[in-house]
Amino acid sequence: MRKIAVMNQKGGVGKTTSSVNLAAGLALQGKRVCILDLDPQAHASLHLGVEIVGDTPTIYHAFAGEKSLTQVRRLVAPQLWLVPSNIDLAAAEVELADTPGRELILRGAIDQLLATEPYDYLIMDCPPSLGVLTVNALSAAEEVMIPLQPHFLALHGLSKLLETTALVTRRLNRKLRVSGVVLCMHESNTRLAADVAADLSDFLSASDPDAPWAQARIFSTKIRRNIKLAEAPSFGKSIFEYAPKSPGAADYLGLVVEVLSMEYAAQQSPQMSMAG
Ligand SMILES: Nc1ncnc2c1ncn2[C@@H]1O[C@H](COP(=O)(O)OP(=O)(O)OP(=O)(O)O)[C@@H](O)[C@H]1O
Ligand SMILES: [Mg+2]
Repeated sequence: MRKIAVMNQKGGVGKTTSSVNLAAGLALQGKRVCILDLDPQAHASLHLGVEIVGDTPTIYHAFAGEKSLTQVRRLVAPQLWLVPSNIDLAAAEVELADTPGRELILRGAIDQLLATEPYDYLIMDCPPSLGVLTVNALSAAEEVMIPLQPHFLALHGLSKLLETTALVTRRLNRKLRVSGVVLCMHESNTRLAADVAADLSDFLSASDPDAPWAQARIFSTKIRRNIKLAEAPSFGKSIFEYAPKSPGAADYLGLVVEVLSMEYAAQQSPQMSMAG
């Protein structure tokens, strides 16, 4: 069982596109997957064809303690469940401000969900901020995946993001590790993309071995810029349903295979996965 938070406080870098297509791709490979939409913008929900109107329960109700995740999640494709969001979730940030233990609400709800329903993967699509919703995802996750758009300010926000991860690791969740960086909207023929990847790789290899990102990889699958990936959400479909022969589908399948291969590598060398 893997719990992955897809996080970057920078907006529009490919978090939702990666969360949805990774989740959909893993489900197509036969894994039981639940994607949690932690963004009041509800883009992951919309991408999977779910628009919440009226009193339908959402992840907001789970944060408010009114519903369990089992009551909120719904099946959106074979093997793929969604815990949807809507704009109500924006209120949670404010409402939780005075709640003791507010950083751990999602973790409690997930533990309860997993006690009755086994999943192979939980994928959490974070909002573009480092607020209480993202901290809840980091407290509940074991892995952080960071989508990054390789342009010249890409590394700029990374230190703040990693600092937050380190803080959560120290205070709330010792199991948390950054598993990797996914380069999104990648233009393979540009010098800039290569430079950013090289800088990032230097940074990761020079990091303190105790840092939660010390083992992070840059996924060798780069997600190229592909218009089909931008069109798919408006049809409420993953790239695998919307345009299975597109470069976007090929790239996300590559990422799925890499994510699965980490799982098999960890199973084959239990000592290594236990270390740290
Ligand atoms: N590889 C790609 N090629 C073309 N368009 C893409 C690609 N990846 C994402 N997009 C588009 O770029 C926009 C931003 O992507 P996405 O919503 O995944 O980013 P995000 O990090 O989740 O944004 P936010 O911070 O607002 O949550 C969307 O319109 C999406 O469809
Ligand atoms: Mg998003």
